[in-house]
Amino acid sequence: MTTATRTARRPSTLATLWRSTVGKKAVMAVSGLVMLLYLVAHMLGNLKVFAGPDDINGYAAWLRTIGQPFLGHEWFLWIARFGLLAAVLLHGVSAYQLSRRDLAARPSKYVHKRRRASYATRTMRWGGVILALFIVWHILDLTTLTVNPVAEEGHPYQNVVASFGRWYVDVFYIVAMLALGFHIRHGFWSAAQTLGANNARRDRALKLTANGLALVLTAGFLSVPVAVMTGVVS
Ligand code: HEM
Repeated sequence: MTTATRTARRPSTLATLWRSTVGKKAVMAVSGLVMLLYLVAHMLGNLKVFAGPDDINGYAAWLRTIGQPFLGHEWFLWIARFGLLAAVLLHGVSAYQLSRRDLAARPSKYVHKRRRASYATRTMRWGGVILALFIVWHILDLTTLTVNPVAEEGHPYQNVVASFGRWYVDVFYIVAMLALGFHIRHGFWSAAQTLGANNARRDRALKLTANGLALVLTAGFLSVPVAVMTGVVS
């Protein structure tokens, strides 16, 4: 075999990294941090609902003009959507593959009772499934407006108020936001460990940041359905 064919057959560094367990964990950590940044911006944007319809509807219109005239109308939004979709897919696929690997590595043939995954792992898996279902519903409800009762394009305020006027939607949002809080708390801490950001000196600060982020995001997101349910926003 010539040196050229040997070089051609060697998998790239990226492919080797993707196949390794530590590589998949790194992909989960980085894609998770990308989504976290989006969530902080999205939560702050949502709080504009408390400033009234003109504020949040104007903000939604502005989001579609970012980068103009260099970029066209909604281009920035589409770039962000594709980036976010890539992050969601990479996160979900690596989580699924890691959990398959974890199951395959268990010595179930030799023990009668199968060892169960830890409480944190099970919470992360179920939380991830709830969040994936939530995102599908949420996009159909407030972006494509397919399942929204008023479905007024360009009027997120009216769409949000109409959506949270349904009790079952409120229950689903509350459950999903609590799952989001647990997911962020454990996920942020795991990401810090995977990326090697933790050490004896920083552990306390990282745990505090994980708890703080989870609390602020959960409370910020929950405040909107709660405000509609209590009539503060109507
Ligand atoms: C109660 C909490 C939330 C409210 C009131 C809310 C509100 C909204 C609204 C009004 C839109 C449409 C924006 C527009 O068309 O300009 C939207 C889009 C979106 N939201 Fe949320 N959101 C909440 C929580 C979340 C959470 C927790 C996530 C992620 C886990 C999320 C992910 C998204 C995504 C991915 C989009 C689509 C963005 C796009 O393609 O334009 N949202 N949200």
